Amino acid sequence: MSPDLVVVLDVDAMRTFAADVAKGCRAGDVVVLSGPLGAGKTTFTQGFASGLQVSGVVTSPTFVIARVHRSTVGGPDLVHVDAYRLDGLAELDDLDLDASLADSVTVVEWGEGLAERLSSEVVHVRIDRDSDNADSGHAVSESRRVTLTWPAHRSR
Ligand SMILES: Nc1ncnc2c1ncn2[C@@H]1O[C@H](COP(=O)(O)OP(=O)(O)OP(=O)(O)O)[C@@H](O)[C@H]1O
Ligand SMILES: [Mg+2]
Repeated sequence: MSPDLVVVLDVDAMRTFAADVAKGCRAGDVVVLSGPLGAGKTTFTQGFASGLQVSGVVTSPTFVIARVHRSTVGGPDLVHVDAYRLDGLAELDDLDLDASLADSVTVVEWGEGLAERLSSEVVHVRIDRDSDNADSGHAVSESRRVTLTWPAHRSR
């Protein structure tokens, strides 16, 4: 499916956008987040968590590489993974994400080229700073371009 390109003007808009993406996700999905340091992957995950209605505060994992946020509404849990410090496939396998995958939406920051193998249902979210929008009058550093790609057979 061809990707959607969305310009997200600030943090609140990112959270709202991510919550909407979460509503299109289902158990078994893997959401691969890519984009440079500080692009907004964790901020996206925070909004995603509120859309999924899971408990707990989503933070940047420091020592904990994967964190589970339980559903408060009987829906899928959120498994939030930060693969930045992972050294390849073997370490990803060590996290044993397969065990939680079917009942969760698994969101993997820095997961590109690694986490796609976890599921046939992969949603790609690419976040970049929006240099094109630097002069638009909006807070310069807050604008982001988000490229969203749903699995091929999904209509959303
Ligand atoms: N439109 C926006 N969307 C997301 N974050 C934004 C936006 N505008 C400004 N920010 C700020 O950019 C920073 C993004 O940090 P965040 O931790 O979400 O990025 P990250 O991609 O997860 O970084 P890392 O690569 O270290 O994991 C935050 O300080 C946030 O407030
Ligand atoms: Mg992060």
